[in-house]
Amino acid sequence: MKGIPLKCLFISSEAAPYAKTGGLADVVGALPKKLREQGIDARVAMPYYKSIEGKFFKQEEHFLTSYDVHLGWRVQGVGIYYDDSIVPTYFLKSDTYFSRPDLYGYKDDYERFAFFCKGVLELIRHIDFVPDVIHCNDWQTGPLCLLLKDKYSHDPLYANIKTVYTIHNMKYQGIFGKEALDVLELPLDYMSQDRIEYHGAVSYMKAGLIYADRITTVSPTYAEEIKTYEYGCGLDRLLSQKLYYKIEGILNGIDYDIYNPKIDPHIYVNYTSRSLKRKKENKLLFQKEYGLEQRDCMLIGIVSRITDQKGFDLMQQTMDNIWIMDKIMQLDVQLVILGTGEKEYEDMFRHLAYKYRERTGVFLTFDEALAQKIYAASDVFLMPSLFEPCGLGQLIAMRYGSVPIVRKTGGLKDTVIHYSMETKQGTGFEFEDCSGYWMYRKIEEAYWYYNEHPDHFKQIQLNGMKQGFSWDDAAKSYIKLYKDVMK
Ligand code: GLC
Repeated sequence: MKGIPLKCLFISSEAAPYAKTGGLADVVGALPKKLREQGIDARVAMPYYKSIEGKFFKQEEHFLTSYDVHLGWRVQGVGIYYDDSIVPTYFLKSDTYFSRPDLYGYKDDYERFAFFCKGVLELIRHIDFVPDVIHCNDWQTGPLCLLLKDKYSHDPLYANIKTVYTIHNMKYQGIFGKEALDVLELPLDYMSQDRIEYHGAVSYMKAGLIYADRITTVSPTYAEEIKTYEYGCGLDRLLSQKLYYKIEGILNGIDYDIYNPKIDPHIYVNYTSRSLKRKKENKLLFQKEYGLEQRDCMLIGIVSRITDQKGFDLMQQTMDNIWIMDKIMQLDVQLVILGTGEKEYEDMFRHLAYKYRERTGVFLTFDEALAQKIYAASDVFLMPSLFEPCGLGQLIAMRYGSVPIVRKTGGLKDTVIHYSMETKQGTGFEFEDCSGYWMYRKIEEAYWYYNEHPDHFKQIQLNGMKQGFSWDDAAKSYIKLYKDVMK
């Protein structure tokens, strides 16, 4: 086989820059690119959402082929568009399923992603690319692992294809009614515990877990956590007792060409670890642009989806009979938050913005450029997640010299080291208990370093900026895994 590159087809419901709702898109935007640099013929297949149309390439010039996909008694046509300007990517176009304003959240999601999985398997008959490995991601792609094993592998074209299934978030499992069996053309006996039944329903995540040749998740700690009751979202016993032998954790990276304060075009003033003073200028200019008091006090940044997962619940607690957020604002700090999500938490921030007008910046939207400005302007970066498969925010923050304050879980535990004054080692502040009290205590600790021991604070910033969470290492681990699974 020497000389022929290993062929890997990534399948994902989102990939940057084309379509993104979360970290999954960043991973699929970055990892295949890195794999290609390391000699793998990595390609991507994803839905052609309405939001992609006309934005990245001229549709007419990128049409490849079209064919039918059978979903039980339904037959749906799919058009394939191909763009290789970044990474060779096959887009599956269906006006019925993907010409809608959002990526997910529709009643027929089970059918949309059954169509996607089947469409990708059929694609292999129409292009000159038979992958050695299909790398699936999250519940939207789980059925592919099942269909390949039970419906396609008797065909010599598919017989040698292996699957790797990556869990980016255990909480979203793709649980649907029995009608999912119809579109996947599966008999009722698939509704059993050792197959894809989950509390009387069908689980797409389970289809991935059980039928994939290997399972990975995006940090070593999360790979252990999901085997426990607390983090396993109902699948912990399956993972710890049956599937443990094929699970491993491979830490995500970040793209150091994009996330680089030295050249980042979005920030006010570029800087490096040697010109950290210039980071302060970013803060002052940020305060000026967004109407905050312009002065040097500790600026706390948050860039996040505003959901339960991210620990916003801790901010709603009280301590000494005072609301935690008031307690935090009693310190001489400013707070900036960017993100969208659940109304309850968004309202909490609206209230804060009203109450502490000159000291808070609340942006309930998503804006890539503004995110970069916040990483550059903030002194500390708050990420108190209840669980965090990997997390990208803390990695970007460290790169920009913003000191992460995190809960010790999943990828946060694997990437942030608590600072020790004695050894001068460490990159941030961690707390273990899921409580607002401990979150506050760690903010207070950071505040103490910031005001009383600026030399140590600078040391923490420098330690963080030196960290090397690039994609190179992750890509090497995946290549090893692919070779292993092909044995
Ligand atoms: C999900 C997880 C996040 C992870 C990302 C990419 O969004 O919540 O922790 O970093 O996927 O794998």
